[in-house]
Formats: sequence, structure tokens, C-alpha cells
Amino acid sequence: MSAATAESVMIESVLREKRVFAPAAEFSQRAHIKSMDEYRALWQRAYDDPEGFWAEQAAILDWFRRWDKVLEWNEPFAKWFIGGQLNACYNCVDRHLATWRRNKVAILWEGEPGDTRVLRYLDLHREVCRFANVLKQLGLTKGDRVTIYMPLIPEAVVAMLACARIGVTHSVVFGGFSAEALADRNNDAKARVVITADGGYRRGKIVPLKANTDQALQRSPTVEKVVVVRRTGENVPMTSGRDFWWHELIANASPDCPPEPLDSEHPLFILYTSGSTGKPKGVLHTTGGYLVGAALTHKWVFDIRDEDTYWCTADIGWVTGHSYSVYGPLANGTTVVLYEGAPNHPREDRFWEIVERYRVSVFYTAPTAIRSFMRWGEHWPKQHDLSSLRLLGSVGEPINPEAWMWYYEVIGQKRCPIVDTWWQTETGMIMISPLPGATPTKPGSCTFPLPGVVAEIVDKQGRPVPRGQGGYLVIKRPWPAMLRTLYGDDERYRKQYWEQIPHVYFTADGARQDEDGYFWVMGRVDDVLNVAGHRLSTMEVESALVSHPKVTEAAAVGRPDPIKGEALVCFVTLAAGVQPSEALKQELREHVAKEIGPIARPDDIRFTDALPKTRSGKIMRRLLRDIAAGRETVGDITTLEDYSVLARLREEEE
Ligand code: WT7
Repeated sequence: MSAATAESVMIESVLREKRVFAPAAEFSQRAHIKSMDEYRALWQRAYDDPEGFWAEQAAILDWFRRWDKVLEWNEPFAKWFIGGQLNACYNCVDRHLATWRRNKVAILWEGEPGDTRVLRYLDLHREVCRFANVLKQLGLTKGDRVTIYMPLIPEAVVAMLACARIGVTHSVVFGGFSAEALADRNNDAKARVVITADGGYRRGKIVPLKANTDQALQRSPTVEKVVVVRRTGENVPMTSGRDFWWHELIANASPDCPPEPLDSEHPLFILYTSGSTGKPKGVLHTTGGYLVGAALTHKWVFDIRDEDTYWCTADIGWVTGHSYSVYGPLANGTTVVLYEGAPNHPREDRFWEIVERYRVSVFYTAPTAIRSFMRWGEHWPKQHDLSSLRLLGSVGEPINPEAWMWYYEVIGQKRCPIVDTWWQTETGMIMISPLPGATPTKPGSCTFPLPGVVAEIVDKQGRPVPRGQGGYLVIKRPWPAMLRTLYGDDERYRKQYWEQIPHVYFTADGARQDEDGYFWVMGRVDDVLNVAGHRLSTMEVESALVSHPKVTEAAAVGRPDPIKGEALVCFVTLAAGVQPSEALKQELREHVAKEIGPIARPDDIRFTDALPKTRSGKIMRRLLRDIAAGRETVGDITTLEDYSVLARLREEEE
């Protein structure tokens, strides 16, 4: 298992964690799921008759045609609601127009500079239909792929839904990714169109999205056209015949565009995520099962009600933004808050200002953000009226009990339950989480699997481990929102997820269950880092480093970090004759940021003459992790020669 040190710290804190927080009676009485008895009955019902259970739950959506069969499981390939037809956009928008919600606010948006926009469901419908017609005019048809590379502005959501409306598969690429990363993703998905903006705002600066797109397009041969939203008003060059302004295209587009009835298994989106090899994985999600999972878990886990104002702070470039800012909440007719920018712009209380301004009632964020808030100090939230909050959520990495308690006391004012939600890009929906009206919570535990989810902790052979003992977290049965494959690579999908441990879905997370059956997820067991709640492949960082002419070899590892969860430490061997220097460190950090994006900028670069390796030449990351974690004070130029001796000794022990 990776991060041996982080893990032992975790085990210790887990053992010390005895606090239990039961839901308040007033909360439970009004909740969708009101007690542990009710939860257990639902879970058992789903366990005994999964197809019957999911068929019942699928009624959360409107179907144009009912399915003939709930599940076809041909391991590792699943099909859900076979023969059923529906449209995700129709479910998120149109169906609300037939109800009182037509004038309900769908999106309360705030830009980083402070500009605001409000879209009712009626407005969202009109914008989506017009843009869907634009996509058709650009020549896109059902089954084509489009890349969305945008700031978090309403047009990004409109673009996603417009694709869904006409059966075009979207691939949202996080606006913080570089031109290189964008090109790779365009090529893997064979995207025909890129939708972007002139730029976006982040911490007062402009992210040059159009410039990055232009650069990416030099090596994205499948991309024919680019649609550009005017966001910052910067002067950006437009290539005639290829680039079009969004506002010009929609000016004459009809607001009438019937939603395409799509097969339940029609591909809704691809989302790229890091794996333990350099090549990002295109996680493919389809329509019916995904939307059932996202809508149902959004309703149950956030105990969502029509009067809620709900804010998930994730960017739409991550799966959290897909499932819990767009598809889940809009399918439920929820009022969603979207904020474009950084949490500390212009000051460290921006989030609390937004909570107060919109009277946010349900708030969903990441532990890395919570730890930043802690560091900035509680005087920032204390300046604001947070009494509208009734429920708090956490996602992205294990939340340490200290951050959990701070969130509970300072933000939730001991009034709001916390849902610590475990899931992945691949799972599409929340899998293990408290149900806030039912589950007594323990700080740091994501508690129990949701109804319909069969999770277990096992050893390498797939045998369940006793309670209290660590092992691999696996999912034993298919679920509707599961990924269907890795785009264009069925074999990699099979190998990565279904062959590591026979006949179960391998999450690559280490976990344990305590004596009460609570799940405690400890983190990744593969060579994937979790930096600020986002998966980063060590391989990808290493290949970025060795692409620099002065570098011959590199190894990237994580070091426990109080704010980001893991900080990125890179050990670098330089080409012969190259002198190590502070300036070169800086140059390499910027190089990685340029190749992958600012989130991958190494926190620390250490030069070394050699990397510790096993006899088969595999870099001994465990050793490097120990060094990265424990030896903060090693001199500027570390030599690992001694450690490689150590490595050989250790290897012999194994
Ligand atoms: C990995 C998935 C799911 C959206 C955000 C990240 C870690 C996620 C938790 C949690 C402990 C968690 C796991 C998982 N993780 N949520 N509540 N407790 N760990 O999506 O990039 O696909 O990463 O994030 O390690 O495997 P992702």
C-alpha cells in the first residue's frame, strides 16, 4: 500500500476517534430517509432484488420509452435499462416547465469579478435549445464528440445540456489544464468541435483559454470548429472559417429544438481522469443509468427539497461538477449556485459572502478547501450570517477528523449534519455516504454504502478481511451509474477495474471497517496522488519532467500536506553537465505546470544523482515517499546514493 506513513497516522487517528454525531430529531422527521431502520430496510431490499430496486428508483426520471430489461451484465460490461429511451437534457430542463418550477431559479451564478446572472428553468430551456440548434448548424450529429474547455459560467452548463439534447457526447476539460492536456484529450476523443471562451477569471487574473485552445489545435487534427464565449472581452485572434463567437451564432438560432429520444446506453459524456500510467483515462458514462444514479443520490444524500438553495463548489471540469452541480440537481429541479472563481478572491471570506447573499442551505465542498479555511482563520466565516445552512458535504479525499470538527463547529455551527461522500469519476454517483436524517456520523468516516451499493474490504485474493483490518475497497455488483468502459480501450478498462481482484470492481483505494461496520477510506494504493482533492498520475508528471531537455530521469511522489492532502515532490536526475540551481528548479516547476496545468506544479523539486531502484529497474517510490515526508531539511542537492543501498537492503527483506 502507498503512503505507509500517512496510513499509520490515519489508523492511529481512526482508533482515537470515538465521537459519534446522531442526526437531530427535527432533521430526521423531515428527511427523505428518516432512520437507520429505514436505511437498512432499503439496503436489504436492494440487496435481495437489485433489478426490482433499481427499476423502482428509475421512476425518478421521465422516460420516453420504458426499458425492456433492467440489467444486462456481461462482466465487465454492463447495460442498464435496456430498450429504454430518454433524454438527459429533457429530464434536467423541459420536464420542469410542465410544473410550477418553470419560473423557479435553476442557476444563481456569480462571476469572480462580482457580476451575477440568474437563469430560471424557462431561461435555461431557451438558452439550451438555441445552442443545441447552433451545434446542429455546425454539422454535429448524434454520436459526435465535443470538447468543452470553459470557465464556470452559465454557458458551460448550457453547452453540456445542449450536447445531451441532441445526443452529442461531451468531454469537459478543466479550464486549469494546459494546451498540451487539451490536445491529448481532443485527440483521444476525436472531438470535432471545441467550445471555449476568450478567457476566464481566477484570483483576479485572466486564464487565457482561447490562446491555449489555439495552441492545442495545432495538434488536434480532428477539431474542425471552435465556438468562443466572450467572457473577459480580451482581444483574441479569431481564425476565419474555424472560430465563431457564441453570441453571434445564437443570435439567429431558433429557441425551438425538440430533445432527441436516446437509447438508455447512449454515451452522455467522457471525462478524463488520471491513472497510474501516463495516458489519461477517458471514463465513459452513458445516459439512463448515470442519470438515475446522479439524481437519486443527490436527492437522498443531500436530502434535497424544493426550497433548498444548493451549492456544490466543484468546477464542472471534475465529475463532482457533472453529477452534483449539473445533472443530479437539475434533474431534481433544484436551485443551484455556481461561482466562477477562487475562494480567496478578493478576500478569504468570498464563499461565506456567497452563502449569506443567496441564503445557501446545502453546501458541498472538499477537505482541501476546508483546511484552507481553517488556516485563514475563523474570523472570516464569523463575519457572515451562515444561519441558512442546514447540511454540509465533503468529497475528494479522506477528511481528517480535525477538519471535520472545524467544519461542523465553525461552518455548521453544530447544527448541520455532515455527509462525507466517497465516490470516484468512475462510479458516477456517490457510493458510500451518510444519509443525513438517518446515519450517526463519526468524523473521518464516510460511514455506510448507499442502498444498491455492495461494498466490501478484501485482500488481494478477494477474501473479506476481518473488521478493523485494512484492505482493498471493492464493489461487488454493477450499479447503474458505473463507467461503461474507458473510451476506445475496453482492454484497459477490464484490466484496471475488473482483473486486479477477480470478479469485483477494484477502486484502488485502501480502507477498513471499524467494529461498528463504518467504512474508513485511507487513500489510493496505486501510483496516483491526491493533490487538493484531484487525482494526479505520478507517471504523467514524470513524463512531463523528462520531456525537458535538461532532465534524464524523474520520480514524482506525494508527501502529506496539511492543506492539499498531498504535496507533489519530484526527484530529478539532470543530464550530464547540467548544473543544479534554484533557477532550474523554478524552470522545471513551470515546465510541468505548462505541460499538464497549474494543479500539477511540483511543490518541491530535489536533484539527485541517482534514483533508488529495484533490480528490475522499478523506482522504489515507497522509499522516496519516506524521504519526501521525513527529511524536510535535506540540503539543496540531495544525493540518493546512500538510499539506493538502503533500497537494495529493503528489497532483500521482502
Ligand atoms: C478518489 C476519486 C468523487 C469526486 C472527487 C474525486 C478519493 C473521494 C473521498 C472521501 C476518502 C475520497 C478516493 C477516490 N476520495 N472522496 N469522501 N473519502 N477518499 O474524484 O478524481 O475520481 O478521485 O478520491 O481516493 O478513489 P476522482
